[in-house]
Parts: sequence; C-alpha cells; structure tokens
Amino acid sequence: MEQILQTTYLWLKAGHIIFVIFWMAGLFMLPRYYVYHQESAPGSEEEAKWVDREAKLRKIILTPSLIMVWLFGLALASSIGAWSQGWLHAKLLFVVALSGYHGWLVGYGKKLARGERSLSGKTLRLLNEIPGLAAAIIVVLVVVKPF
Ligand code: HEM
Repeated sequence: MEQILQTTYLWLKAGHIIFVIFWMAGLFMLPRYYVYHQESAPGSEEEAKWVDREAKLRKIILTPSLIMVWLFGLALASSIGAWSQGWLHAKLLFVVALSGYHGWLVGYGKKLARGERSLSGKTLRLLNEIPGLAAAIIVVLVVVKPF
C-alpha cells in the first residue's frame, strides 16, 4: 500500500510539473504576442493573424494547462496531507494571483480582438515580468518550505 501511494505521488508530481512548464510557457508568450499584435496596422491581414494565433495559444496551451496544474496540484496536496501547512497557503495565494493574471490576459486579448488597444507595448513588456517573479516565489515556497 505504502509503495502504491508513493508511486501515485510521484506520477502526480510529474504531471504537475509538466503542466506547470506548459502554463508558464504560455503565460510568457501571450503578452509577447500582444506586443507584436499592437505593432501591426489596425484592420490589417497581419492583425487578423495575431488574433488567430492568440486564440489558439489560449485554447490549446493556456486554458488546458491552467486546469491540469490545478487538478494535479490539489491532488498532490491531498496525497501528502498538506492542507494545514503554511507554505501551501502562501503558495496558493500566489497561484490564485497568477490565475487572476491569466484571466486578465485573456480579457485583454478579447479587447484587442475588438480593436481596443488600451495599453502601451512598454506596459505589456513590463507585465511580462509578473509570471517570472511569481514562479520564482512559488518554487521557493514549495521546495524550501520556509514555513
Ligand atoms: C494550482 C495550484 C497548485 C497547487 C495546489 C500546488 C500544490 C503542490 C503540491 C502539494 C506539491 C507537492 C509538494 C511536496 O511534495 O512537497 C507541489 C509541487 C510542486 N509545485 Fe505546485 N501547486 C500549484 C501550482 C504550482 C505552480 C503555478 C508552480 C510553478 C510556477 C508549481 C511548482 C511546483 C513544483 C516545482 C513542485 C515540485 C516541488 C518538489 O519536488 O519539491 N506549482 N505543488
């Protein structure tokens, strides 16, 4: 029984990390796409291509990865009985914030597709630092477990 639980835990962790990589890759790429999108002429064929690429990135990579990271993460937390541990609470705070950022990015993409370009390229480039910072903090919390 011990052996089965240990093997399940390792497979859950492998699945979790695989989808964390996909999710983070998508979160790094999408604002970059938005920068290039905003550099294209409004109404042009190039703009239409960016709208299509953005929708594909969201549907094929970002949304499925977000769901899988959450499912594997919650299953992992149950499998090691981590619900009362401080590092998990802190990690969840950052993961919820990162999921909120994901949601905001999706909303901005829909606005862009309607032709509304409310942010500058510089602001979008700055926003691109958010997932990197959040990932660094999340990884320290889960590996070092400082509390
Ligand atoms: C979506 C909600 C998430 C939950 C509920 C969650 C929960 C967990 C749990 C319980 C573990 C196992 C920890 C252990 O075995 O000691 C774990 C491992 C891990 N998580 Fe998450 N996680 C989530 C999202 C994320 C995100 C967004 C990242 C990175 C940006 C991440 C990175 C990692 C890494 C690298 C490990 C492996 C740590 C190790 O082997 O020591 N997780 N996660």
